Amino acid sequence: MRKFKIADGIHMLTMNVEDILFEGIWEIANGVTLNSYIVQGEKTAIIDGVIGWDGVPETLYKNLGEIDVDPKSVDYLIVNHMEPDHSGWISNFRKIKDDFTIICTDKAAKLVASFYGDCNVRIVKEGDTLDLGNGKVLSFHPVPNVHWPDTMYTYERDTKTLFSCDMFGAFGRMGVHCFDDELTAEEIDFFEFEGIRYYSNVMTTFTPSIRKAIEKAKSLDVKTIAPGHGPVYRTNPQKIIDDYSRFSQYAEGAGKNEVTILWGSMYGMTAKAVDYVEGILQREGIKYNKIEMPQESDSEMVATVFKSAGVIIAAPTYEYKLFPPVAAALDEIGRKRITGKLAFRFGSYGWSGGAEKELKEIIERNKMNWDFIESVEFEGAPKEEDLAKLETKVLELVEKMKEKVVK
Ligand code: FEO
Repeated sequence: MRKFKIADGIHMLTMNVEDILFEGIWEIANGVTLNSYIVQGEKTAIIDGVIGWDGVPETLYKNLGEIDVDPKSVDYLIVNHMEPDHSGWISNFRKIKDDFTIICTDKAAKLVASFYGDCNVRIVKEGDTLDLGNGKVLSFHPVPNVHWPDTMYTYERDTKTLFSCDMFGAFGRMGVHCFDDELTAEEIDFFEFEGIRYYSNVMTTFTPSIRKAIEKAKSLDVKTIAPGHGPVYRTNPQKIIDDYSRFSQYAEGAGKNEVTILWGSMYGMTAKAVDYVEGILQREGIKYNKIEMPQESDSEMVATVFKSAGVIIAAPTYEYKLFPPVAAALDEIGRKRITGKLAFRFGSYGWSGGAEKELKEIIERNKMNWDFIESVEFEGAPKEEDLAKLETKVLELVEKMKEKVVK
């Protein structure tokens, strides 16, 4: 755990967490940070206190000591969101102090009781304030379903700092640079993709609520955005607001000017056609990504499809249905409510077709509303005439994709 000063009386404590499945599902290739914030007036509050994934609070207490905060002097635990990466420390904190007040929304209060038993809770509503003294006044602004129904922003008026919890967050471990103005060009790109990974893996299902939360952030006079995961934006908070606005468009079919080939092959017949399609994309100068299932993680698969303006699904028929790893990937994308993508499918069949029927079922069951170019299926290995059809359809996708591109 490391500590950084955000402003007089406000510090961030941050730790990198790796080798976990986030939410027990998502393999996060580049880790994630857990950030908590200490606000000191005459009284002291901790916002979204974090501890090690193993629940051991010693590093938190040690770091509090190093910024002259005696853990026993903490008056308020502000729980912006009850998911345990933000609240998991409460039961441990109670071991050293029991006369503190948890500040949270009514929906969080119910979860406090069910997760941690009886606690002293003050429920806050939109615009309620907490005066810590010495000019530090916090106000509270619920942003339901970002990403649970209990979530709220905390805003510090003196420094115009928005403690945004999951909103405006990103996966990715932080090195020595934790503020937007310190990031190198490479680190900016890194956190943009880790932001996409985070949004698509964790947040995208709640895109309508995220749009409302973006508007709420804009309605506050924000100088610094301090999220629960990822860098702090103290110089250009508009950058992460714009990123999140763009991500919300990706969730509904827009994307970067790139194609993702989501594919799988049993014996190399479909793979031959993938090679051919790659050649066309290279010739046309189109950026593309290849995601082979089941080899690739769901985290990478969802993030890569999510950010692409065009999706090529390359998968054969397997036992009268769509090749199962690709079918499972599409189902996951559907569960995440990633809608409106422009897509094209091709694939091989042997003794029976059936992939197309299941593809349609997945798209309809999940109400994905994807726009498909007519599929190309071929018996066994692709022949010359099949490859010619593939070229026509890929070029059609490349042309239509222009309408979907958002920079
Ligand atoms: Fe960072 Fe929804 O937890």
